[in-house]
Amino acid sequence: MESKLISSGINYLTLPQSYVRPESERPRVSEVSDCKKVPLIDLSCGDRSLILGQIRDGCRNYGFFQVINHGISKDVVEKMVKVANDFFSLPLEEKLKLYSDDPSKTMRLSTSFNVQKETVHNWRDYLRLHCYPLEQYVPEWPSNPSSFKEIVSNYCKEVRELGFRLQEAVAESLGLDKGCIKDVLGEQGQHMAINYYPPCPEPELTYGLPAHTDPNALTILLQDSNVAGLQVLKDGKWLAVKPHPDAFVVNIGDQLQALSNGMYKSVWHRAIVNADKARLSVASFLCPCDQAVMSAPKALTADGSPVIYRDFTYAEYYKKFWSRNLDQEHCLELFKNQ
Ligand code: OGA
Ligand code: NI
Repeated sequence: MESKLISSGINYLTLPQSYVRPESERPRVSEVSDCKKVPLIDLSCGDRSLILGQIRDGCRNYGFFQVINHGISKDVVEKMVKVANDFFSLPLEEKLKLYSDDPSKTMRLSTSFNVQKETVHNWRDYLRLHCYPLEQYVPEWPSNPSSFKEIVSNYCKEVRELGFRLQEAVAESLGLDKGCIKDVLGEQGQHMAINYYPPCPEPELTYGLPAHTDPNALTILLQDSNVAGLQVLKDGKWLAVKPHPDAFVVNIGDQLQALSNGMYKSVWHRAIVNADKARLSVASFLCPCDQAVMSAPKALTADGSPVIYRDFTYAEYYKKFWSRNLDQEHCLELFKNQ
């Protein structure tokens, strides 16, 4: 039986043709080494200048960093992971009720990335939710499992607070006032992608998610602590980010690259799949409000450095992002000053 979702309970023996990448685009994991030097930041260490230095290093040189002792309790995280796994274990018919491949929907269970635009599919199913304001969006969230709404709401609230603390630290690490970036982003939206990558019959031929940068401001990723899959591009080479059981992976999105006048990198990253185990990840995206005008703070160009990007609204950017396929040039390139 063909299904729109791949978390269908079907055991595939070979990879369906529509997922097979041309030879030159395959992951070649034997050439990927472990990412050893990315900062693992202890947010409770009490030494602000150490934290800011690590953030600067992470954002400049890698476009991401990891945080531990981040203030989100183990209980909240474990419940989130469990309810996400329970959701993807629901019977296929139940999940198909939520299926849509229309990116403009605020709640949808979908597959791959942008089914209507892409030529090759990706070995991923994902539940995408809007999470702010909660009162507005929680009513449309799945009500099965019955604890889903409560558990995910709690998680969202805590992640949002952490995201704001990180944005303040990012601003300070650029030598700006701590509210400087948050002020530009306005009343931020929050989205979540719960990604589920089932075991894949021929993982070397395809991706869970191909190389992309995140179009938003800041992403806080909870990775499966048992199954690796996330890789980031550094100096033209792919590096595997081994899961750390207590850490969140934080990555700079396109909007922080723009606001930092290109000093901080919105990193290319991808997810690979494996033959034996399903992998789960929960990505929380903080997004500028639609009308927010992305314009690097003047202090960053006061020394006469060129202003790299033209001003644009987030609404304009987001529309452009979803009108394209993932593995094209960096979407920000289209917003550069000449
Ligand atoms: C994403 C993403 C990586 C992962 O959802 O944008 O990059 O490890 N996920 O699932
Ligand atoms: Ni991403």
